[in-house]
Amino acid sequence: MLIFLIGFMGSGKSTTGRLLARDLSFGFADIDNLLEEREGMAVTEIFARKGEEYFRKAESEILDAILGFERTVVACGGGTPCFHDNMRKMKEAGVTVYLKVPPDILARRLSGGGRARPLIAGMKGARLNNHIRRLLAGREGWYRQSDIVFNSAESGTAELFSLLRPYLEQQGR
Ligand code: S3P
Repeated sequence: MLIFLIGFMGSGKSTTGRLLARDLSFGFADIDNLLEEREGMAVTEIFARKGEEYFRKAESEILDAILGFERTVVACGGGTPCFHDNMRKMKEAGVTVYLKVPPDILARRLSGGGRARPLIAGMKGARLNNHIRRLLAGREGWYRQSDIVFNSAESGTAELFSLLRPYLEQQGR
């Protein structure tokens, strides 16, 4: 059983994923982290030295390896569902969960720094806000194909857990 957490940068995929994995006694896999380990470079460096196309291909290869895992919560990168055949593969292999967060909240979270993100590097204020809205508008169509759309800014992991329960029961966990 695989649970894929999908959503924009700053939507809490890694944090929520770790909590969920702990509560379910599942493993946890973070696509960005696995990619960084494989490449021996940070995501920003991969973008800068090898380009986005290379990054997207590597991201898809990491996903392919994860498809063979069992009982794992997977934190995707913000763009994972929107490239190659990734969304279809994830939907076939497990439960997809969109952590939906309003753009204003994303902008607030992302302007606070945190992990380096090449797609919004050096942006702040209105420019960051507009960029997030534009990027999100182009990605919502992918994100919304998820089995579960979870308003994660308003609800906690207990609610997410109850939405997942039918899927877990169906799989016998
Ligand atoms: C990206 C999101 C990042 C990382 C890369 C590209 C994106 O992951 O994969 O910087 O395209 O939205 P997070 O969503 O974990 O920040």
